[in-house]
Amino acid sequence: MRLMLAPMEGVIDYTMRGLLTSLGGVDRCVTEFIRVTERLLPPRVFLRLCPELAQGGCTAAGVPVYVQLLGGQAMALAENAARAAELGAAGIDLNFGCPARTVNRSDGGSILLREPRRVHAIVAAVRAAVPAQVPVTVKTRLGYEDDSLFLDIVRGIEAAGANELTVHARTKRHGYQPPAYWEEIARARQVVSLNIIANGEIWSPADALRCRAITGCKDLMLGRGALCRPDLPRLVAAAAAGNEPASLHWPDILPLLLRFLELNLAHYDPCYAPNPLKQWLVYLRAYFPEASAIFEQVKRLREPAQVKEALLQAISATAGAHGTAAAA
Ligand SMILES: Cc1cc2nc3c(=O)[nH]c(=O)nc-3n(C[C@H](O)[C@H](O)[C@H](O)COP(=O)(O)O)c2cc1C
Repeated sequence: MRLMLAPMEGVIDYTMRGLLTSLGGVDRCVTEFIRVTERLLPPRVFLRLCPELAQGGCTAAGVPVYVQLLGGQAMALAENAARAAELGAAGIDLNFGCPARTVNRSDGGSILLREPRRVHAIVAAVRAAVPAQVPVTVKTRLGYEDDSLFLDIVRGIEAAGANELTVHARTKRHGYQPPAYWEEIARARQVVSLNIIANGEIWSPADALRCRAITGCKDLMLGRGALCRPDLPRLVAAAAAGNEPASLHWPDILPLLLRFLELNLAHYDPCYAPNPLKQWLVYLRAYFPEASAIFEQVKRLREPAQVKEALLQAISATAGAHGTAAAA
């Protein structure tokens, strides 16, 4: 089994990929989408969203990062995909799932699922433009309004020569509303031999096993679940192998928060560095109730030094509480 870390615009960026892949269990990452209109983008755009291009296309932990492109113009996407490959991308991923109105209005993301032939043409053009050794993968939803074209889309993607396909098992109309319709992925697997990676609503190792059983997919992609519970990839990998490793607890998460702040301080303008940390706390509190108190403490702090101090205090308070508990 392989586990992919989902692309998440504004959330899973270079620093988050660096942190999450350092915890193990992730086999591949995908960047946030790079929007392509008609022009060939300068290298700095690719390097901004995928700084890993300057480190062999991998995170510091050695996990390959595919560059995701989004757009509706086959030739422009092909040229930009070729450029990303030249810059050292480990692979190219094409986004046909984005539900955002602004993106859909400008002919990108899930709106293209209304036209399976265009999806096919885009994938074929990109595949032809990128060296054969660089994988071209596709990420899609089940459809735009409904899933009536889903199997045509999937067949077209295979015929266009894509190496793999990730399916987020919902239509654009479903948005992010549970459930994910994993059984639709099983239907797709019956009509193509292309490897399909299942995605959507995997929050626990038990969900992952159920998703694999229903879809028949070996490989999974984890998004929000991995943010709420950063050891999820490791736990899922272990569960699939029949093992039960120890999970991370809140005292293990606190030092990760500090490390994340430091990664952001090193990579971004320091005055923005606390923002990704606050955003991550919002995800973490879905699984770790303790994250709410820290979030309340830091949400109005703007100085990185103050945020760091709050984290250090929380770490020493937790260590103190554990020391007291152990002594008792
Ligand atoms: C905030 C946010 C940003 C996202 N950005 C992207 C993106 O840039 N490209 C993409 O293909 N999917 C994007 N997605 C969709 C996720 O990759 C994934 O398909 C979806 O969250 C379902 O998986 P999950 O239930 O494991 O989170 C985004 C989702 C969220 C919630």
